[in-house]
Amino acid sequence: MSKQVVLSGIRPTGNLHLGNYFGAVRNFVAMQDNYRCYFFIADIHSLTTHPTPENLHGSVRQVLAEYLACGIDPDKAAIYIQSDLTETLELYTYLNMNAYLGELERTTSFKDKARKNPDNVNAGLLTYPVLMAADIIIHRANYVPVGKDQEQNLEMAVKFAARFNRMYGAELFPKPGPFTYDGKDPIKVPGLDGSGKMGKSEGNAINLIDTPEDIRKKVMRAVTDSGPTTPNQQKPEPIQNLFTLMNIVSKSDVIAFFDDKYNNCRIRYGDMKKQLAEDIIAFTAPIRERIVSILADEAFMARVAREGAEKARESASATMKEVRKLIGIRRFF
Ligand code: TYM
Repeated sequence: MSKQVVLSGIRPTGNLHLGNYFGAVRNFVAMQDNYRCYFFIADIHSLTTHPTPENLHGSVRQVLAEYLACGIDPDKAAIYIQSDLTETLELYTYLNMNAYLGELERTTSFKDKARKNPDNVNAGLLTYPVLMAADIIIHRANYVPVGKDQEQNLEMAVKFAARFNRMYGAELFPKPGPFTYDGKDPIKVPGLDGSGKMGKSEGNAINLIDTPEDIRKKVMRAVTDSGPTTPNQQKPEPIQNLFTLMNIVSKSDVIAFFDDKYNNCRIRYGDMKKQLAEDIIAFTAPIRERIVSILADEAFMARVAREGAEKARESASATMKEVRKLIGIRRFF
């Protein structure tokens, strides 16, 4: 039986941070041995926020190097740049004909972005989930490893895939589902500013490329409170967030130690932050070294992007042949 298909991507809007790694990339690395994997860099999606040409290309290069440094193996998975696979844009156009204004306007991420940037409510932002659906179904993906924040976009992809199948009486697209390598629910990595998720635009992120000094500074500045006053009291969000980060990067005895201190009202947040910073550094330092050396190897990155695009095109063009036939788009020549 042929392998099940996995697809996922990341927008190149800055350096990868711990949220991207623990929400997405570590799943990619774990899945590449057992599935036919496509991992791409969503440069077209990132155009909704109008990056400069230099910033766009620089960020794509950076994310490509970061994918590789995290352990995505180009001999196992296809790594490609979204704009190298123009078939996706064709499918996006077709899907747009059956994507309705009402449902697109109702998505949470569209409403959020429109509220935060009222001067830039562009059509690309509105149809963002349609392009994302095209990314996914062009390879007829079964699984999409993403963090919690992408759940609604994935539900939209499920809807558009099913709608296409129904409309053309076909079973071309499987239902794409979420997936994590350890079978747990998709996670949300919190930021350091006391509430919400870690994100590039939130300015609360620890990046894989950050130096140890950067990381120490960022963690020491994390929001805390004046400390617990009753034993075993519930942790307020900023404190829970520090523990959540610790759960991700620290050893279990370290976590138990600080948990115990908190529960006995003897915690010193400064000590906890110092420990957390060192545990993050121990995790990111080797990745950071690899990013730096991969970025210096232009020929390697070019080969990865070319071979990835070739593998992706093979799968996408097979799908598009079927799509055109079903829709009734036939050449006269
Ligand atoms: P993006 O670039 O915002 O994020 C990339 C991936 O990182 C995950 N992530 C997080 N996970 C946990 N905690 C966090 N704090 C956190 N921050 C980010 C995201 O869930 C995501 O998995 N729309 C997508 C890109 C995309 C895509 C696709 C993904 C375009 N087409 C097709 C999958 C399939 C996005 O903007 O992700």
